[in-house]
Amino acid sequence: MPTRPEQKNAFKDAWNSIVSPDTLPTRFRSLHQIEYSTFQQKVLEQDQAFVTSITRSLYEGDVYIIRGAFSKAFIGEMKRKTAEYCKDKPPTFHKMLEGCQDFHRVIDEEVAKNYSFKAIKHSCYFFPWNDDPLKLFSPIWERWSLIKFLSGQRLDEYERNTPKDGIVDRIQIVCYPSGAGVLETHSDPYIHQRLFISGFMSKRGEEFDSGGFYVIGPGNEQIDLEGQVEIGDMAFGYATVLHGVAAVDSHKSVDWGVMQGRWFLGLYSNASDEVKNRHTGYAVKLDEER
Ligand SMILES: [Fe+2]
Repeated sequence: MPTRPEQKNAFKDAWNSIVSPDTLPTRFRSLHQIEYSTFQQKVLEQDQAFVTSITRSLYEGDVYIIRGAFSKAFIGEMKRKTAEYCKDKPPTFHKMLEGCQDFHRVIDEEVAKNYSFKAIKHSCYFFPWNDDPLKLFSPIWERWSLIKFLSGQRLDEYERNTPKDGIVDRIQIVCYPSGAGVLETHSDPYIHQRLFISGFMSKRGEEFDSGGFYVIGPGNEQIDLEGQVEIGDMAFGYATVLHGVAAVDSHKSVDWGVMQGRWFLGLYSNASDEVKNRHTGYAVKLDEER
């Protein structure tokens, strides 16, 4: 790679010149698409015209789809291995404290009350200090590092951190089950991670029929983006641009025993539970916005 982690980051300078707490974007403006190989090349080159245009566009609320970030075969394997992992181990929960193990959790209506915004899902959480049972970190960090760099961070930012360092990388593989899966409209925590990052693991019309990823437009309208993506694509946008997941197959009844529905890969550098008053996201009701 032409860029090493310690090299100058032109994106960081660009962000510093435009970001202010009063002007964070909250509404989606437009959608852009870029092939993975082009994205990789452009981010690492740090050509000034690209740096200026993409940072400004993200700050205006644009969302980018990276086409073919992962192969369909890789995603298929990831789903198969995750389902197996969840079948072998009982669901549980662990705070992000030093030594926290990987785990999976069924987050139904009742459990969802413990979170800052409502999400009904079956989530598997993997941390880099464990033994990486699904062998996810190397291929995922290869992609994630580009988005970190674009965000103004080092390519390997947080990779070696553990909870006592404050911020940790966490890979979340989620199944939003048919008949229950949903994620309410929210703004993500943005202090440690400037951009939300989604990996698409299912195709609407194949593994599920309705619902999926949306963003909120300037007139508070819900704009579906799920119909624009293919398995293996990634998407990113400014963390404060309101987004959510519309109810997945609400016409069906849920069966938590089968991981059937909309799968999703969530990449986040989280404030660990070793941090007092950790910065989290918040739900947004559009008629009583805060
Ligand atoms: Fe989010």
